[in-house]
Amino acid sequence: MRIYLDHNATTPVRDEVVRAMTETLEDVYGNPSSGHAEGGLARARVETAREQVAQCLGAMPSWVYFTAGASEANNAVLMGLLEQDRGGLVTSNVEHPSVDEPATCLEEAGVGVTRVPVDGEGLLDPEEVLEAAGPGTSLVSLIWANNETGVVQPMEEIAEGLRSRGIRLHVDATQALGKWPLDLSRVPVDYLSCSAHKLGGPKGTGCLLAREGAPIYPFIRGGPQERRMRGGTENVAGIVGFGRACALASDELSYRMVEYARLRDRLWEGLCAKVGEVRRNGSADHVLPNTLNVQFLDTPGEVLLQALDLEGVAVSAGAACHSGSISPSHVLTAMGLSPEQARSSLRLSIGHGVDTGQIDAAIGLFGELVGRIRRAGSA
Ligand SMILES: Cc1ncc(COP(=O)(O)O)c(C=O)c1O
Repeated sequence: MRIYLDHNATTPVRDEVVRAMTETLEDVYGNPSSGHAEGGLARARVETAREQVAQCLGAMPSWVYFTAGASEANNAVLMGLLEQDRGGLVTSNVEHPSVDEPATCLEEAGVGVTRVPVDGEGLLDPEEVLEAAGPGTSLVSLIWANNETGVVQPMEEIAEGLRSRGIRLHVDATQALGKWPLDLSRVPVDYLSCSAHKLGGPKGTGCLLAREGAPIYPFIRGGPQERRMRGGTENVAGIVGFGRACALASDELSYRMVEYARLRDRLWEGLCAKVGEVRRNGSADHVLPNTLNVQFLDTPGEVLLQALDLEGVAVSAGAACHSGSISPSHVLTAMGLSPEQARSSLRLSIGHGVDTGQIDAAIGLFGELVGRIRRAGSA
């Protein structure tokens, strides 16, 4: 039996979501833009999903624009700056590439970009963000919960500070949705990106949320869909699945926060006891309940990842493979880890279907395999 501890990469589609999508694919074949009954049925399904997504985020349905995932939503918000006054962008040095690369693109087009650094725990200082965001800033774009470390930024404080200065805030909430309370009726963010496949929905579906009054520009031209912002016939089944996954997340959030944290803490304590010479990367207090980023001293992460995979455990490395060479994670090095420390780090992330027995079995395997790799390295 496989033990899947890579739920931040993607998490299995929930049974309830599969059923809702299957029923849609089988029975709801109309085009939501058509004026007949078949079209109307498809339109109704899309609008129900819009309400479910909005409700999960404490937002209004009219703020939701469905996309093909969070990368598209992030690109849409950032590249939209080119349509505006080309004022500056403030972001951080631990962003997902779907924010970081558009930011570089904007920089090349002459937009001033400031990347605020995080501290050793992976946290932003709200004061530093507010200082970086001056009168010439058009947008601040920040990741709410980091995909590699799970570190959750003090977004309430940042959002309040920016709101009082009249500066717009975009948050990438892809990892936070379904694992952390997100309530836009309380936190004044202007734009939010998220993705269905991180919370039990299908891949290739997500949304951009733009609060009433926050300017957005068409990011796919050529059709009336999504209030002319994103042309193209809607992915009706995908959107239905996203809505269902959000409804489940709304119902289960408190349970998930307690249960995932219990399993994550058990895993961490087990690794400390059975493996030893481990360090936790990132804040242990401001972190998603499901994520653990661990440095295994004197143990190359890629070697450990492959050994675990062969034994049936799926995890993720603190490094990305670019054309054959392994570059250390920019998130971990931004927190002050050396390239070698980053290369000996793994991300372990928990989600639906993981149980105590699996955690205990994984701890046993970590103990055995890390011991073997360390002995081989010192031989
Ligand atoms: C923080 C973050 N932002 C954006 C994305 C991209 O999401 P999608 O796969 O829906 O494009 C991911 C996915 O890994 C992510 O973790």
